[in-house]
Amino acid sequence: MIEMKLVEGVYLVGSGRNGIFLTDELDCNCYLVEFEGKLALFDCGIGIRPELLEAEIQRDGFRMEDISYLFLTHCHGDHIGAAAYLQREYGIKVVVPRTEAEAFARGDEAAMGLDVARDAGFYPPDYHLAACRGDETAVPGIWEKDGIHMELFDASGHSIGGICYYGTVKGRRFFIGGDLVMMGGKISFQLIPGADIHAYARCVREVMDLKVDLFLPGHGLFQLQDGGMQLRMAGEAFEHLYIPA
Ligand SMILES: [Fe+2]
Repeated sequence: MIEMKLVEGVYLVGSGRNGIFLTDELDCNCYLVEFEGKLALFDCGIGIRPELLEAEIQRDGFRMEDISYLFLTHCHGDHIGAAAYLQREYGIKVVVPRTEAEAFARGDEAAMGLDVARDAGFYPPDYHLAACRGDETAVPGIWEKDGIHMELFDASGHSIGGICYYGTVKGRRFFIGGDLVMMGGKISFQLIPGADIHAYARCVREVMDLKVDLFLPGHGLFQLQDGGMQLRMAGEAFEHLYIPA
């Protein structure tokens, strides 16, 4: 639809109606990050109309074939639905949070909370997830591969066990946390399998003091300077025993 370069090296290439409505209405925010010599996509949307994601990536001046990795934040359908397609069509290496990798490989919709979310109307009644066996798994700690250096954090609580990605692109520190924290320092807690408010609080408090420029959440608006304030707000609420929802 439009070129969506956010800052040097970061492009918003997918976003649904809970964002800026760039691609399919049910897509999460999907970010393309241009590391030194390597391209990586973070989350890939629901997979109903992946051609819209491809068109955005091409409009931003990139070729699908040049994307090395797809890093997934957590295994909810609106974040991972296009993974199998992108892996098959373009050989993009899919990196799945380790805790959720087996459920995604089996297409276990119950374990990933997709069946109850579909019943609740979040997904179309005929929507089914395309299962995908990841090429690699993501675990908390340092990711150092192919010139991509990031620190990965546990993002349990929103889902069974997601991952947040913290790194640097063209001199700016980014935080891609999926649905862990949204703008306004709010969390996204749903009554679905895998959700755990105590785990959620622990994970948010673990990242609340990170130095972050680019706050790039899975839905809604993003923040391009001092983005760490969003994490701090959520963390401080938990510290005061409130749920920042
Ligand atoms: Fe989610």
